[in-house]
Amino acid sequence: MLPLTYAGAANMDHQMIDAASLSPREAYQLMTDLIAPRPIAWVSSQDRAGRRNLAPFSYFQAVCSNPPMVSLAFSWRADGTPKDTLRNILETREFVVNHCARPLAEAMNASSAEYPAEIDEWAELERLGVATLTPVPSRHVAPPRIGQVAAALECRLVHAIPLGAGAMQRPSTTLVLGEVIAFQLDPSLLTRDARGRSVAIDPARLDAIGRLGGMAYTGARGHFQLPRPKIGSDA
Ligand SMILES: Cc1cc2nc3c(=O)[nH]c(=O)nc-3n(C[C@H](O)[C@H](O)[C@H](O)COP(=O)(O)O)c2cc1C
Repeated sequence: MLPLTYAGAANMDHQMIDAASLSPREAYQLMTDLIAPRPIAWVSSQDRAGRRNLAPFSYFQAVCSNPPMVSLAFSWRADGTPKDTLRNILETREFVVNHCARPLAEAMNASSAEYPAEIDEWAELERLGVATLTPVPSRHVAPPRIGQVAAALECRLVHAIPLGAGAMQRPSTTLVLGEVIAFQLDPSLLTRDARGRSVAIDPARLDAIGRLGGMAYTGARGHFQLPRPKIGSDA
C-alpha cells in the first residue's frame, strides 16, 4: 500500500458564488486571485510600419509541445479598441515572448502603463529612466527580442478566437494561439551531463516571477508587490 501523504479534513461549507451574479470586475478579481501564480509573457510586437510595442500579459500559457504553442488572452478596452499588442499581432501575425526574471520586474511593470499606440515603450522606459532595454533582431519574425532576457520565444499567430461580449459590439477578450518558431536562449542555460545529454534548465538561473492576485508577484526569492503604473507618474 502507498504511504498516506495527506490527511486533511474536507471543508463541507464552501460559499458558492454563481459566476452569472458577478460583475466583470468581480469575476476578474476571482480569476486572477485564484488562478495564480501565472507566468508572464513580456510581449514585443510591432505594427506594419515597424512601430515597436512592449507589454506584459499573464493570461499566458504553454498549450502544445508538438508543435510548441502558447496561448495569450487580450481583454479589449472599454472604448471598444484592441490593445496595441493584439492589434499588432492581428496585423502582422508575429510576436516575441520575452522571459521576465526578477531583476526586470519593475521595467516589465512600467511597460504595462496604458500608453497611446504611437508611444514606443522601449524608448519610453529609457526616457523615464526605468530601464535601457536593448532590441536584438529576431531570426524569423520582425519584432525584436529584449537583449537583457535569458530566453525568448519567436512566435507566429495560428488562431485568434473572440471570447465573450465586450463594449461597442466587440469581444470581451481575444484568445491568441501562437506557434513558437524559434527559442532564443542564453547559452549558459543549456548544459549537458557527463554523457552529453541535455540537462533541465536551472530554475534558479531563470529566476522567473509569477503574477498573483492584486499587485502581488511571486519569485524564487519570495513575494513582492508592484502597483500598476499610471501614465504621468514616474513609474
Ligand atoms: C503582470 C501583468 C500582466 C498582465 N496581463 C494581462 C493579460 O493577460 N491580458 C491583458 O489584456 N492585459 C494584461 N495586462 C495589462 C496590459 O499589460 C496593459 O493593458 C498594457 O497597457 C497593454 O499594452 P498595449 O496596449 O501596448 O498592448 C497585464 C499587466 C501586468 C502588469
